Amino acid sequence: MILIVDCGSQLTQNIARRIREMGVLSEIVPYTTSVEAIAAQHPDGIVLSGGPFSVYDQGAPLYDGAVFSLGVPVLGICYGLQSMAYLLGGSVKATDHREYGETKLRIEQDSRLWNGIPEREWTVWMSHGDIVEQPPEGFVVLARSQSGHIAAMQRGELFAVQYHPEVDHSRYGRQILKNFLEICDARRDWDVEKEFDRIVERTREQIQGKVGIGGISGGIDSSALSVLIGQVAGDAFHPIFVDNGLLRANEMQQVQQSLAPFHLRVRYVDAAKRFLESLRGVTDPDEKRRRIGHDFVHVFEEEARKIPEVSYLAQGTLYPDVIESVPLFGTSSKIKRHHNVGGLPEVMKLEVVEPFRHLFKDEVRAIAEKKLGLPATLVWRHPFPGPGLAVRIIGEVTEEKLAILRHADAILIEELRARGLYHQIAQALIVLTNAHSVGVMGDAGTYEGVAVIRAVTTNDFMTADWFDFEGRDLRAIANRIINEVRGINRVVYDVSQKPPSTIEWE
Ligand code: XMP
Repeated sequence: MILIVDCGSQLTQNIARRIREMGVLSEIVPYTTSVEAIAAQHPDGIVLSGGPFSVYDQGAPLYDGAVFSLGVPVLGICYGLQSMAYLLGGSVKATDHREYGETKLRIEQDSRLWNGIPEREWTVWMSHGDIVEQPPEGFVVLARSQSGHIAAMQRGELFAVQYHPEVDHSRYGRQILKNFLEICDARRDWDVEKEFDRIVERTREQIQGKVGIGGISGGIDSSALSVLIGQVAGDAFHPIFVDNGLLRANEMQQVQQSLAPFHLRVRYVDAAKRFLESLRGVTDPDEKRRRIGHDFVHVFEEEARKIPEVSYLAQGTLYPDVIESVPLFGTSSKIKRHHNVGGLPEVMKLEVVEPFRHLFKDEVRAIAEKKLGLPATLVWRHPFPGPGLAVRIIGEVTEEKLAILRHADAILIEELRARGLYHQIAQALIVLTNAHSVGVMGDAGTYEGVAVIRAVTTNDFMTADWFDFEGRDLRAIANRIINEVRGINRVVYDVSQKPPSTIEWE
């Protein structure tokens, strides 16, 4: 196993995913973890992540330097290089030649880290303001950047790179990580499909003979979870689907259809009226989310109380939700969690069952498709937020606006599928703005709503780019929406990247 010491980088999870993709289990721990706790896990290697800090910042994430004496290979990345240099007595300083984005790296010394790389110079992705001026004693400089800064260094089995091998923009990034795994002599025995049997076994031990509930949203995590628990518990498991009235066209029917082969005892609760009632007059996005979350917990609990002897709540929690985030920016508080039925276990004294809590989403997808037999349409569905269409209607949510948005959204998705674009896009949606615009249809003037098409490409939803449509596709989609949806007479395309613009508008 490879342990990743998180120093607050947004890319820490990328490192873990890359390593798991190569068949080696990787886990993330915060930089505050003691050396004893690290050693107790017997890692084959340690990776020190990047982070948005200077080693000289007050409260900089400085882990215990004793990690370098554990006799385990270490790879420092970006801030990981700077902090390694700093803790081992080298010098780090701010530079006027900050390097952001693509930079050239040139090898100065051969190393096992460069194994299998056929070039001496290549492009890497940097993002740093500080540099290592003087490496600690005994270190050799393995490579420099085009500005002459130290781009990689090594002493024995301690390695560090100033750039980010975990991003796709860094050429040979995977090769470097693979070389590090070889240096660690890490066994490649992590295979989520094999792990599946263990997950089933553990879940069985946890829930045998008990009655449980779980929420189904129609998304991949909660569906895979329900099918898994259903296989283990049969009729003693009661998944609950709450129709909050904020779903897309035919969404509930689609969920019913795709789950039909699994013979789950899903309880469908129609609570649309209640949600719409509490959203009446509300325009503030946070307040919308708060009310929807509150209603959800309430409806869910009401339904759950109808089931006798419930003792556990199954949740599709994933690894990114449980990683103890570095408390620098309090990143965990930023996670938007709608289906946070966190209040329930305490109120109802339920045990929480989370079979996927050590898996990434791509690993759940693999299990869902190959082990549980979920249909590809469900496995590869674009994500849909818990608060549903409510956060895609700017301003007050009304039945009328919902109907307009549902219709436009259905056209968008239908066209994307028909044009073979759906799977090239990570998430596509329509936003119904609060604006109205003048138009003309036939001989009559119109004054109707303005809809926005948002379509993005992204791997992790932390950063995203807008999808580069062919003009003819965009034109056809916009024409259909304007012609077919009463209430929309103008369609615009959102060409904003995340950051700074989020994927949803609210
Ligand atoms: P943003 O808008 O933050 O979205 O760029 C990133 C991803 O998260 C989804 N999202 C949500 N999901 N509850 C959810 O369950 C929410 O309140 C929520 N807000 C955004 C969004 O659809 C995108 O996939």
